[in-house]
Amino acid sequence: MEITTTVSETRSLIRQWKKEGMTIGLVPTMGFLHEGHASLIKKCREENDKVVVSVFVNPTQFGENEDLEAYPRDFHRDMALCEEMDADLVFHPEPEEMYQDACTFINITDLSDNLCGKTRPTHFKGVCTVVGKLFNIVTPDNAYFGQKDAQQLAIIKKMVMDLNFDVRIVGCPIIREEDGLAKSSRNTYLNERERTAALCLSKAVKRGQEVIAKGCNSNDVLQEMNEIIEKEPLAKVDYISIVDALTLQPVEYVERPVLAAMAVYIGRTRLIDNFIYGEEPAEQ
Ligand code: PAJ
Repeated sequence: MEITTTVSETRSLIRQWKKEGMTIGLVPTMGFLHEGHASLIKKCREENDKVVVSVFVNPTQFGENEDLEAYPRDFHRDMALCEEMDADLVFHPEPEEMYQDACTFINITDLSDNLCGKTRPTHFKGVCTVVGKLFNIVTPDNAYFGQKDAQQLAIIKKMVMDLNFDVRIVGCPIIREEDGLAKSSRNTYLNERERTAALCLSKAVKRGQEVIAKGCNSNDVLQEMNEIIEKEPLAKVDYISIVDALTLQPVEYVERPVLAAMAVYIGRTRLIDNFIYGEEPAEQ
């Protein structure tokens, strides 16, 4: 497995692989890898000749008062997992290598206004910019993203269409702990009590899935989901919404594929979870 830290060494490796007719898959990550990331790498391994994993805690997607400094990092453990998953290349640049004195950014409108975009107004500009840059550096045939970050996945798909990136975006299902909590690098922030409290998110998802299958009014579903979160004293809802799965605009009635998404603070940790209803589930 190769490790690169600069754009130029990454490009020359990729150029060589492409010359040999290899297909390239990319899994963009911010590191502190867990089974959620591993599922993306596994899928990428199955579908491509060469597997590239990027490990980069991207400063431009963190707001001023967010957890950029505190974000968990363990590059050695990440390398061991990538090696075990049979990745071919890990791209691990420093922020200066990626941004230097950059003043060009990719800004997506509409899809980034609600859900997570409301409390994190600059987040998706940072995500789109870094993912656009990674696409230009790695030029992958396929790129793998988790349904866990449903708004991010929808936004990346739209960006790829709007800007004609020549890459296929593959969405992968949410990987959960045994008790239901969606795996996340940020779960490490939770103390024991908070870890138990955090189960209200996946319980609300489960309840939402049951209710939505019975009726078509979004408010009824949201109310049931809210009740579960409100019962948990350590939890505070940031948002719970039912939106069109493609446009991410709120829907009153569930008549076409929808995304039911939420962000909930457990103590000071903001966690997200979601489910899609009415659409083929992401491939396993
Ligand atoms: P990060 O949070 O490290 O996640 C990297 C990828 O792993 C994302 O596509 C995310 O949706 C996926 N993922 C995380 N937890 C998952 C889970 N429990 N099940 C399935 N997939 C999961 O998302 C980012 O990094 C960044 O925004 C990035 C795209 C790398 C741009 O900086």
